[in-house]
Amino acid sequence: MCGIVGYIGPKATLDVLIGGLRRLEYRGYDSAGVSVIGEDGRLETRKKAGKLANLVAEIEQHPLPASHIGIGHTRWATHGAATDGNAHPHLGGGDSKLALIHNGIIENFAELKAELLAAGTQFASETDTEVAAHLIAAAYEKSGNLEQAFASVVRRLHGAFTILIVHQDHPDVVLAARRNAPLVVGLGDGENFLGSDVAAFVEHTKRAISVGQDQIVTLRRGSVEIRTFDGAEVVPDEFTVDWDASAASRGGWSSFMAKEIADQPTAVADTLMGRLASDGSVQLSEIDGLSHDAIKSLQRIYIVACGTASYAGDIAKYAIEKWSRIPVQVELAHEFRYREPVLNEHTLVVAISQSGETADTLTATRYAAEQGAPVLAICNTQGATLARESDAVIYTHAGPEVAVASTKALTAQITAGYLLGLFLASVRGATPAAELRTIGLDLLKMPGRVAEVIKSSKNVEALGMAMSDAKSVLFLGRNVGFPVAMEGALKLKELAYIHAEGFAAGELKHGPIALIEEGQPVIVIVPSPRDADSLHPKVISNIQEIRARGAKVIAIAEEGDTQVAAYAEHVVHVPQSVSVLAAILTVIPLQVFALSLATALGRDVDQPRNLAKSVTVE
Ligand code: AGP
Repeated sequence: MCGIVGYIGPKATLDVLIGGLRRLEYRGYDSAGVSVIGEDGRLETRKKAGKLANLVAEIEQHPLPASHIGIGHTRWATHGAATDGNAHPHLGGGDSKLALIHNGIIENFAELKAELLAAGTQFASETDTEVAAHLIAAAYEKSGNLEQAFASVVRRLHGAFTILIVHQDHPDVVLAARRNAPLVVGLGDGENFLGSDVAAFVEHTKRAISVGQDQIVTLRRGSVEIRTFDGAEVVPDEFTVDWDASAASRGGWSSFMAKEIADQPTAVADTLMGRLASDGSVQLSEIDGLSHDAIKSLQRIYIVACGTASYAGDIAKYAIEKWSRIPVQVELAHEFRYREPVLNEHTLVVAISQSGETADTLTATRYAAEQGAPVLAICNTQGATLARESDAVIYTHAGPEVAVASTKALTAQITAGYLLGLFLASVRGATPAAELRTIGLDLLKMPGRVAEVIKSSKNVEALGMAMSDAKSVLFLGRNVGFPVAMEGALKLKELAYIHAEGFAAGELKHGPIALIEEGQPVIVIVPSPRDADSLHPKVISNIQEIRARGAKVIAIAEEGDTQVAAYAEHVVHVPQSVSVLAAILTVIPLQVFALSLATALGRDVDQPRNLAKSVTVE
């Protein structure tokens, strides 16, 4: 989950590297560092534990020479604590003429390190990364050919890695390689860029190439050459980044998270655009790769994802199964992969991922592909590994999500899940077309409703501030409200660092109700009372059960629900909608609540401790 930047060209390298790292810092912020080859031909490195600001201060104290080639890194620690010594770049060889940065984990580093120690290599860090630096330097010393040395070493590395190197003897080239970790190239005019995602260089160019599995990039000012690890030439596909640098800037907001919560009407609208017609019918041309016959012969759908994305899957499950009548099972990707599920061509595996680089999710989809199951991705990052490896992709159009805690990507993922459910149902004829169109028309209104919820969120902000001394908060929900409750708990955990737990409201009596004591805050997502088979009465009973034991209840309920006020200390209303669609609305007050409470506690809401935006290691 580290941030990686590489540059060669006429610009002041340090500005390009620091600017890129600033945009990538959300990927990891335990330490940061840069290496440049100065106009004097010398390789120089500066690196510092802690956030990027610490590195900038270090460079102010110990300036770097002017340069036109360099690499930069922000770290999410895997091997070795967040110290100056473990910060990247790492230097290789006795003469320290080689600098290397790495995103991922080298799983066979121990045996390789033993080989180097036996040869007398001195190590300066506890990292797996430094092993690669010394191996390449040693191979280069032997062969005299840097590109051959680089290729020979990356072929020996197991695990997940994106690696960039510069060498003092070759101030005209940056070498890069990737296996099971992201790497993109930015194409400029007389300059070229490398990054772990396009945010690294989008302010300089929108022309990009996604580097494929087991490929090596030779980056020069005027050329980009891509080859496989075995040396075969690769003809890359260029794409154009569909957002600009301002979209990834904070734009005056107090935090990226606040900005991205406010972006949700647009994120939902943009994800619907071109897919949901004004008559409520759905067109999903992106999945033409799945024939109607194949869709009609589907026997099961597995949705695989992690964290917040898995809750989007849980919500989508209710909709897809209800409308298409295909059995849907949602599994955490890291559990799905290793239980060896029975899959075949009649099982559709839907992978949901904002980054498209989550190692657990990629491992699950690769397993599914090996078993012959078609894989459909719901992804927010163009050209991401997941998108490129899937049979079909439904891109969410939430724009770049910089805050580590996912908000607008989630509501966009839920939207995409609803679109998929409506599409599958219409192909299979499992629900009358007129009914599907009615639901589609209701879905069309969601961007406006989302805007209404956000506009009326001041009361929720006040609640978050008022409850900043809470030691724990419980969240309850039923049906689609249950995954919303789970997501609300996750948001509070990852932002405020306090205990929070989501429960199925019906499960409370089977144990968790023992947690309820006088003053225990409980947030309850209340279903609409309007449906004939509404679960509203049951949830009201659940509320009474916990209030009888001292709970303080905050109810998230739909406008017009006049009953719930009698059973709650606070009621937060959201606009009415088709019940199963309500999740897009009811999750937003929980996002605002978590942001407000965490802010009151002085937390860093964009870069919470211990977290990273994209978990690219298993
Ligand atoms: C959500 O707030 C977290 N940042 C985390 O749970 C995230 O959703 C999860 O790691 C999955 O990431 P992905 O969507 O990029 O695959």
